[in-house]
Amino acid sequence: MKINTLLAGLLTSVTLVVGSAQAAELSIVSGDTGNGLAFLRSQLDKFEAETGNKVTVVPMPSSTSDQFGQYRLWLAAGNTDIDVYQTDVIWAPQLADQFLDLTDAAKDVVGAHFPSIIESQTVDGKLVALPAFTDAPALFYRKDLLEKYNKPVPTTWEEMAATAKEVMDGERAAGNAEMWGFVFQGNAYEGLTCDALEWVKSNGGGQIVEADGTISINNPQAAAAIDRAATWIGTISPEGNLAYQEEESRGVWQLGNSVFMRNWPYAYALGNGDDSPVKGKFDVAPLPAGDGEGAGSAATLGGWNIAVSKYSPDPEEAIKLALFLSSPEVQKERAINQSNLPTIEALYDDADVLAASPFMANWKEIFQNAVPRPSAPTKVKYNEVSSLFWSAVHNTLSGNGSAAENLEVLEADLSDLKGDAW
Ligand code: GLC
Repeated sequence: MKINTLLAGLLTSVTLVVGSAQAAELSIVSGDTGNGLAFLRSQLDKFEAETGNKVTVVPMPSSTSDQFGQYRLWLAAGNTDIDVYQTDVIWAPQLADQFLDLTDAAKDVVGAHFPSIIESQTVDGKLVALPAFTDAPALFYRKDLLEKYNKPVPTTWEEMAATAKEVMDGERAAGNAEMWGFVFQGNAYEGLTCDALEWVKSNGGGQIVEADGTISINNPQAAAAIDRAATWIGTISPEGNLAYQEEESRGVWQLGNSVFMRNWPYAYALGNGDDSPVKGKFDVAPLPAGDGEGAGSAATLGGWNIAVSKYSPDPEEAIKLALFLSSPEVQKERAINQSNLPTIEALYDDADVLAASPFMANWKEIFQNAVPRPSAPTKVKYNEVSSLFWSAVHNTLSGNGSAAENLEVLEADLSDLKGDAW
């Protein structure tokens, strides 16, 4: 009895010593979108079980712009409380100095990811973050309603707007007063930069600032695309859409109150959830094209990555966490449960992934042709560039000036910001 107690005590202290030598307490920030926090927690539980580490999630707002503002402050202050950051694809050049170089730690795994994504996270030879998932948007459409009104899936913005109006009017006349035609991200934030870049690029209007640094946004095709979007507000899209981010658009859509929605793939799994009124009633297609020379469907490249703060007191364990969250196992779970697009090519041929998210078979090509926002050419000034752009667009959507007027001012502001070079 005595010996047993002694032994048990000894074993406990041995475990404690071994445990404390290895165990780290880490924290990771995470934006709160859909059921993303619950999914992250489920993966962290596995990491904790595998490593003995403890990980705390610090929840953040869902807006990438709000997250960026906060993280920049924390990092500038050398905050040691956050070890691991989830980073938007556009942030790498702006935050590169604050994160550890993961080149060595990831040397055996980088080859499995799409090279373009690794490149987007590499700044002056430093691998700033490891990819968790990539993002390329879709036109979500109600199969049941297009069938009822005998309409094809629209392939141009004009066709989309006409179908949206016809179905919306028909449904309202039939008693559904809440019905709208199209919801998208119209708030003044990074999401509007993504949506508006698609309108402009799909209309042959360029990509705001080109890869060589040229400011191209002040052109008639870009202006026409933004003016066209302004006509949607108050007709096929509610006035309130001017304040919608991803989650507000999804809210309207998932209640069954919109014919079309522009959103990222995460809305696919949620829309097909058991509690979703649109479960089984929708599908996704590439975004519509504009008109004029060079027009064609365009998708803005999004995506999220995992970076390790250079102020982390536990860099080794924090790097393990980054490797874990970008691993094929977790990416597969993310593709199945969250319908997030993997950055590991092999997962696009995975039967379980395709069974859960059949659209991914077509999305590999869409994301590979997606348009990057001009974060690489504008470097540390990207956030300011984007904010000037979304403001010009938001003004136009709100009826404050025509697109031509607002883009002229934008061009002048961007030239000032650029100075001699980005
Ligand atoms: C999605 C994209 C991200 C983008 C954001 C805009 O989260 O993955 O890249 O910046 O939407 O709201």
